[in-house]
Amino acid sequence: MNNDTTTGEAHAASESGAPAAAETLPVVPLADTVVFPGMMLPLVIGRPESVAAVEAAIRDARPVALLLQKSKDAKALQPDDLYHIGTLANPLRYVTAPDGGHHLVCQGMTRFRAGAFDRKDGYLTVVAERLSDADAAPGPQLEARLLALRHQALEALSLLPQTPEELVNAVRSIREPGALADLVAGYLDLEAADKQRILEALDLSARLAETSRQLEQRLEVLRISTRIRRETQEAMGAKQREFILREQLQQIQKELGEGDDAKGAEIKELAAAVAKAGMPDAARDQAERELKRLEHMPEAAGEYSMVRTYLDWLIAFPWTKETADNFDLAAAREVLDADHFGLDKIKRRIVEFLAVRKRNPEGHAPILCFVGPPGVGKTSLGQSIARAMGRKFERFSLGGTHDEAEIRGHRRTYIGALPGNIVRALRRAGTRNPVLMLDELDKLGVGFQGDPAAALLEVLDPAQNKSFRDTYLDVEIDLSQVIFIATANVLDQIPGPLRDRLEVIELPGYTQSDKLEIARRYLIVRQRKQNGLADDEIVLPDATLSAIIDGYTREAGVRQLEREIGAVCRAVTARIAGGKPGPYTIAPDDLHAILGARRFEDEAALRTSVPGVATGLAWTPVGGQILFIEAAATPGKGRLHLTGQLGDVMKESVEIALSLVKSRADKLGIDAALFTERDIHVHVPAGAIPKDGPSAGVAMTTALVSLLTGRRVHPDLAMTGEITLRGLVLPVGGIKEKVLAAHTAGIRRVILPARNKKDYEDIPEAARNALDFVWAETLDDVLPAALEAAVPQAAP
Ligand SMILES: Nc1ncnc2c1ncn2[C@@H]1O[C@H](COP(=O)(O)OP(=O)(O)O)[C@@H](O)[C@H]1O
Ligand SMILES: [Mg+2]
Repeated sequence: MNNDTTTGEAHAASESGAPAAAETLPVVPLADTVVFPGMMLPLVIGRPESVAAVEAAIRDARPVALLLQKSKDAKALQPDDLYHIGTLANPLRYVTAPDGGHHLVCQGMTRFRAGAFDRKDGYLTVVAERLSDADAAPGPQLEARLLALRHQALEALSLLPQTPEELVNAVRSIREPGALADLVAGYLDLEAADKQRILEALDLSARLAETSRQLEQRLEVLRISTRIRRETQEAMGAKQREFILREQLQQIQKELGEGDDAKGAEIKELAAAVAKAGMPDAARDQAERELKRLEHMPEAAGEYSMVRTYLDWLIAFPWTKETADNFDLAAAREVLDADHFGLDKIKRRIVEFLAVRKRNPEGHAPILCFVGPPGVGKTSLGQSIARAMGRKFERFSLGGTHDEAEIRGHRRTYIGALPGNIVRALRRAGTRNPVLMLDELDKLGVGFQGDPAAALLEVLDPAQNKSFRDTYLDVEIDLSQVIFIATANVLDQIPGPLRDRLEVIELPGYTQSDKLEIARRYLIVRQRKQNGLADDEIVLPDATLSAIIDGYTREAGVRQLEREIGAVCRAVTARIAGGKPGPYTIAPDDLHAILGARRFEDEAALRTSVPGVATGLAWTPVGGQILFIEAAATPGKGRLHLTGQLGDVMKESVEIALSLVKSRADKLGIDAALFTERDIHVHVPAGAIPKDGPSAGVAMTTALVSLLTGRRVHPDLAMTGEITLRGLVLPVGGIKEKVLAAHTAGIRRVILPARNKKDYEDIPEAARNALDFVWAETLDDVLPAALEAAVPQAAP
């Protein structure tokens, strides 16, 4: 339709006779806008040709001829690329921006028809014939169209957000049909081609009709989007309204004292719970006071939920609830036996304890403390005691407790405050007389905040714990009915005053045969069940269990053992699930495929296969350990090197050992030249636990003599003992644990200080039976027992 100027010609012919003025004007092609007469518009002038055209127009104070491009993207423009009806516009301002862009603000004046084009001085010119709107007789039809368009335009403006007031006024006041159409078309959000069609509609009726048509389309869109917006707003409004009404309702109910709302119900419930909780008077007063405060507090207040939580704790605390004790001692013993193998002495002590409680329930029961390495059954014994007595069992660990508040609770004013561990455990138990285990008492931290040990003292003190005050609950609670049991790995890490309160029961660890029994009677049963196996689906003969104990575990307790048995059960479950039904009998040889290579080879034999290595015995907080002391000689000047994280005392004892060996070199058949021509290197392989103490003295001396004489140390032998410069063997601690460790590691013979004979009693019988003991007074008792006969081999 672009060049269809028939309407225009018809129109031009109908003009009122004034000859259309023709002038030659610079052309500015427009990519995608149409400027209507009367409209003011900023244009960005990009093309150098257009810049030249604008500058020429400004220089000569002439209008520019604006013509829309037929295609937005056309580059090198020829007259045929432009529509031939356009607008003459007056340049009002012309600015070159700092970025080099040119901006022209111009005002549309009148339509024109393009005549002959020319190109000179670097820009396009056109002979423009001005076209003015025909002042066609404004007949009723045109009038009706004008009114219709105005109506539509006002509606559109009312639907658009932020319509400028002036625009509304202009639409209202313009009488001129063509001008109104131009105004509307100018502001309408239309495609440039559609606007061009309106521009080319020189016949007023046609122009109004076209504008109306296009405006109607836009209106439809506007109406729909407005409706959608309104609907969503209405939905929102309804909710808000409901909320406000509810608020008012609550307010009114409150005024009338009818608060039968949710909050009222909640408070009634709380009041009933407080009445039923069996609190002592002080606690009850406190609860009722808080309940009153709650009533007068808006539910939304942050404090409301704090008070609410506090009341919950007060209500849930087992003020009076308790279980009846079972004092049938025979039955209790049965429970203990059912849960644990062996531990006879300990079980007897527990039954005694129950007997005393039976005679004197109000008496101050001693606080038992189980001490021993991990996995020996400390925690599970506690559970067993609770079961034997018919009491609830709860525990919490004191490992890493640095803050008194963890035991006693935080002040209620802190955000997220809670009662301490004691009150929490009692709430979990639901009774005021549970067996409460304080696990890992030796891991109690040194206080950063207050003193956790002091708080515990108060908890455990029968004179004070009738009225223990938890900081959070802030009322007195009675702990006197609780049976406390503590556990620890080592005794000497427990703060002194606390230790004085405890009756210590030691669980030193199990022998191989104990472990075998425990595995057979308890661990298999449990693991079979946990892994979904029926009793007859897996058979683990003793030989297999022993192979697991020897090859895959090294521990005083039975945790690792249970884990390995669990792994074997899982493997069987997997095979059965894979479609190969059992039963499976697992032979020792099958273990490799299931558990992998033996983790603990007979290490002692391996290590001591060369001269210079002796097997020592160490005590650690988690039980005994064997360790290898390795001596080597290198060419040098008689210096001593020590490696392996040794403490000062241990370094000293290497030096003592070396001096002792030097002083006896002759007697031992050691070439004295070795001490000047060689450096001696002593290494104690680094383990998890830093090593210190004098108790490796005997082993170090033995290692040095072995090295320097070339005689190997017996592979099935381990030793402990301090040595003096004169060769005396002094007693050391931890004999029981060390001997157990030796036994666990498959050692057959141990050399111990003669002055430790008194400790023999404590060594579990199985270990005593399995091992030979050499009691050494001096080095002279040690070496013959420790070293193999000389082999024909040159000393290093
Ligand atoms: N004498 C025993 N008889 C039966 N099972 C035992 C025995 N000793 C330990 N166990 C089991 O070994 C596992 C570890 O015991 P646990 O009480 O957690 O050890 P601890 O608290 O001393 O570290 C538990 O499953 C426990 O039942
Ligand atoms: Mg434990």
